[in-house]
Amino acid sequence: MAPHALFLLASCLPVALAHGMIYDIWSNGHRYPGWNANGNLTSYPPDTPAWYTTNAGGGPLHPSDANRPQIICAKGGSNANMSAPVAAGADVRVRWWMVDQAWPVGHHGPILSYLASCNGRCEDVDMAALRFVKIAERGWVNGTVYQEGYWATDEMIANNGSWTIRVPPNLAPGEYVLRHEIIALHVAFTSTGPYSLDGAEFYPQCVSLKVEGGGTVQVSGGVDARTLYKGDEPGLTLNIHTGPDHAGYVVPGPPVWTGAD
Ligand SMILES: *[C@@H]1O[C@H](CO)[C@@H](O)[C@H](O)[C@H]1NC(C)=O
Ligand SMILES: *[C@@H]1O[C@H](CO)[C@@H](O)[C@H](O)[C@H]1NC(C)=O
Ligand SMILES: *[C@@H]1O[C@H](CO)[C@@H](O)[C@H](O)[C@H]1NC(C)=O
Ligand SMILES: *[C@@H]1O[C@H](CO)[C@@H](O)[C@H](O)[C@H]1NC(C)=O
Repeated sequence: MAPHALFLLASCLPVALAHGMIYDIWSNGHRYPGWNANGNLTSYPPDTPAWYTTNAGGGPLHPSDANRPQIICAKGGSNANMSAPVAAGADVRVRWWMVDQAWPVGHHGPILSYLASCNGRCEDVDMAALRFVKIAERGWVNGTVYQEGYWATDEMIANNGSWTIRVPPNLAPGEYVLRHEIIALHVAFTSTGPYSLDGAEFYPQCVSLKVEGGGTVQVSGGVDARTLYKGDEPGLTLNIHTGPDHAGYVVPGPPVWTGAD
């Protein structure tokens, strides 16, 4: 194929890679910067409850990573050295952004939030010991606006990149890891389109929280993040370009835990 033909073909394909990161975290009236792996790792780190990663560029993980350590708290994830205080029942807000632009509209998909107890200080916890429950999920919203339909990511874009996560109101005080995640589906597997096998894109980011208040409910029934996804479930392999109606869409991962609501 002539070089110009390759170029034309490439320019017709959906942009496969986003480089998304959480740039801001708001909790308890305070704004924290997110973890910017593009920053200077020796001089950059500010006080942030965002777990550190080596994921310079903010690129995604894929279904083939679903059972690997990096799915827990991103590539090269390691503990944040502080936990952001938040009252049980209050909202934590995060803002996803790219290097110089908003989350790309084409990267439609679900937004998920998980919580695991650190059973002590999150600064010291072994992430392999974290047992996550899903506390919120939002997937396909309706069949408006885009050929692929309107998704959680589109609501986030409409809210200037912000997403709000409510801490369960009856959750017992203590330190917890919030595992917040976008799954972009624009190049999820399809046998008919020019899309890639192993194409769904996971963008996880962990944030350490210090939950305060009078709740008494402990997280129960959580799982190792390496078992949240198989990698080939329909919610990760559908072709969203077939039309705006994805009413049967099931957000991947376990059911939402409402035990502390
Ligand atoms: C990172 O910070 C160190 C210490 O301040 C400095 O010596 C180094 O030049 C910086 N590197 C980059 C790429 O900015
Ligand atoms: C977290 O680490 C950064 C970088 O080493 C440091 O500047 C900051 O003081 C630390 N914060 C806490 C709460 O230990
Ligand atoms: C589709 O969802 C968006 C975002 O939640 C909402 O603003 C809009 O009213 C919905 N449209 C329909 C037809 O339900
Ligand atoms: C949206 O977020 C960007 C990046 O922080 C900010 O510069 C801009 O003011 C925000 N816009 C609105 C309407 O809040």
